[in-house]
Amino acid sequence: MKAMRNRPIGEALLAAWLAVAPQVMRAATPAEIEKKIDALFVKMTVEEKLGQMSQALFGDLSDGRKEEIRRGRWGSFFGGGTAAQKAEAQHIALQESRLGIPLIYGEDVIHGKNTTFPIPLGQAASWDPELVRQAARVAAQETAATGTHWTFSPMMDIARDPRWGRIAEGFGEDPVLASRMAVAMVRGYQGDSLEAADSIAACAKHYAGYGAAEGGRDYNSTWIPENLLRDLYLAPFQASREAGVATYMSAFNDLNGVPASANAFILRQILRDEWKFDGFVVSDYTAIAELIPHGYAADSADAALKGIRGGVDMEMVSTDYWDHGKELIASKQLDPKLLDEAVRNILRIKFQLGLFDAKGRQPPAGAAPPTAAALETARKLAAESLVLLKNQNGALPLAQSVGTLAVIGPLADSPRDQLGTWANGPADTAITPLTALREALGASRVVYAPGLKNSRDESHDEFSLAVGLARRADAVVLFLGEEAALSGEASSRAYLDLPGAQEALVNEVAQTGKPVIVVIMAGRPLTFHNAAAKAGAVLYAWHSGTIGGPAIADVILGKAAPSGRLPVTFPRTVGQVPIYYNHLNTGRPPSETGPEAQDKFRWKYLDVSFTPEYPFGFGLSYTTFSYGNTTVSAPQMRVGGSLTVSAEVANTGGVEADEVVQLYIRELAASISRPVRELKDFRRVHLKPGEKQTVTFTLESSELEFHKGAQLVSEPGLFQVWVAPDSSAGLRGQFELVR
Ligand code: BGC
Repeated sequence: MKAMRNRPIGEALLAAWLAVAPQVMRAATPAEIEKKIDALFVKMTVEEKLGQMSQALFGDLSDGRKEEIRRGRWGSFFGGGTAAQKAEAQHIALQESRLGIPLIYGEDVIHGKNTTFPIPLGQAASWDPELVRQAARVAAQETAATGTHWTFSPMMDIARDPRWGRIAEGFGEDPVLASRMAVAMVRGYQGDSLEAADSIAACAKHYAGYGAAEGGRDYNSTWIPENLLRDLYLAPFQASREAGVATYMSAFNDLNGVPASANAFILRQILRDEWKFDGFVVSDYTAIAELIPHGYAADSADAALKGIRGGVDMEMVSTDYWDHGKELIASKQLDPKLLDEAVRNILRIKFQLGLFDAKGRQPPAGAAPPTAAALETARKLAAESLVLLKNQNGALPLAQSVGTLAVIGPLADSPRDQLGTWANGPADTAITPLTALREALGASRVVYAPGLKNSRDESHDEFSLAVGLARRADAVVLFLGEEAALSGEASSRAYLDLPGAQEALVNEVAQTGKPVIVVIMAGRPLTFHNAAAKAGAVLYAWHSGTIGGPAIADVILGKAAPSGRLPVTFPRTVGQVPIYYNHLNTGRPPSETGPEAQDKFRWKYLDVSFTPEYPFGFGLSYTTFSYGNTTVSAPQMRVGGSLTVSAEVANTGGVEADEVVQLYIRELAASISRPVRELKDFRRVHLKPGEKQTVTFTLESSELEFHKGAQLVSEPGLFQVWVAPDSSAGLRGQFELVR
């Protein structure tokens, strides 16, 4: 592994730092922080306030930039800059600017800094919030060491559309799973105290509704009724608020006709008045200037006015606030109180982070290579994120005694692609599946041909080599999917098929008659029906990060049992999208069995089944689990009360493994139609062969509430409840909610 230490900080600078570094202080109380803000505030000019509200890309630390920092032109930078450069700029802000207000450095640490963890969608597939928290802790430590104080993560946009490339960055389609994951990441980044040297501020993004982009086309408009907004899209944002997230990022999208980055309904009414958030809101990249093309602001001054009024405290990259703030105040169009509130919100977080104190003044240690412990966490998380979708006749795991293994496919040995979108870590530290399999089996037993240059390659030129190897081998593992650049921001796709000539490659390899295992590495749910039909087993591996290769090899060779579960519904074809498990029933629900199955006039398609290829929550194991004895502790629950739901889960196969036990509910009749199922809780349990465990969930009546407009209501009535291995199965019980 290569060392990645940044240039050491200059001796003179270090001495200067140490001269001014105060003693390590105890954390200030909220009241003390407000006093400190007051004291600073009376001295601030309008320009200095507008400077605090401005964020730029770090760029290079030119003399001009240094002079701007001295003048208080910027409150924050993000992206780029070595630890030494950041320390130097911070020194200027603290020591040479009139008021000595520190800069806050942001960065897109989305799934790891030096150690790259699986993409967030893959992390969600682990259904293991504690492990996700640990990974975010590692990311915080590695990030803080480079002098960055703030990550633009977690992204918690619920997405029901795999065409949208940014589905990779979120936690899938369910509000409970996404909330647990979001809170876990917030806690991991922020630690016990923001002020700790190894804590960084988190940023709940993109607030709000960004994942509902029409047609899955990035940046597109969204139309979300208030009850759905609050029940679904806002749920993880609200949970993050409760977990103490320091900042929010306003989204790019238009939400019900008002751009999210000027949307006082979500930014002021909900975030500030209802949720009492007192950190700050940063806009997304140039989102204030984009109010003009949205058709919401007439010009740059109008954009600044609407952004500030709307509730965005800090403007990212565009400079409308700085360019027009002063004249907007002078002309009395902008209430100076709004400016003051925004600046106070920003300063509050800078104080909470300790940037005025030791943390701001001590030079950062500089980047270091991943520690063994970090890599171990990454390997565990990658392993838990792998979802086994098919395993006919125990095709997996491969016997360790397998003679020659042919490793084929464009993603078998592509370190950069395996890291996925928004990867910070260097590709040369990533261990690919090919390397890991060679390591595990011995290089002489593994033969390799990519077959295609990359996932989009249409050429069949290299097929014959790959097929030749397959013919000589005892088994084939095909590594297919999408390269990293096909998911993430501005990477929407209208087709969800395996791109390039990958399906043709599968067909030719399958014709050899050799056992074929397919591993799919992708940033979204893909449609791969043909490849799955031709393979004995399919393992979905997402983009699994630095140490994804060994995690995949462990599962292929049976050293670990797969235990990931889908955090999002997989469609059969793109034509089914949007398809999600927590849908309403409609007046004409279809059926696969009984006389209704023949009824044409149902909620379905003529040319494809109405069911998904793989349902939400689904994933196989190397063992089998049985569910029995679903017990609801009481026939009735009072509003304000609770009951327990339990089931006996047994490992009925021959391998010890984790099962993710899921609790779903449905309210049968209410004043707003309720989804056919809603996940309420889940638990990962580890069972040895033959072992049985009673898994008990406590269900509070507050978990049965839903929104009617802004109001959360509990409606008495009959509820069904399932303890289930996925959203389409499980044993049902029921109870009645009464007043
Ligand atoms: C993305 C954000 C990101 C920001 C800063 C934007 O284009 O939408 O998610 O945090 O850039 O890099």
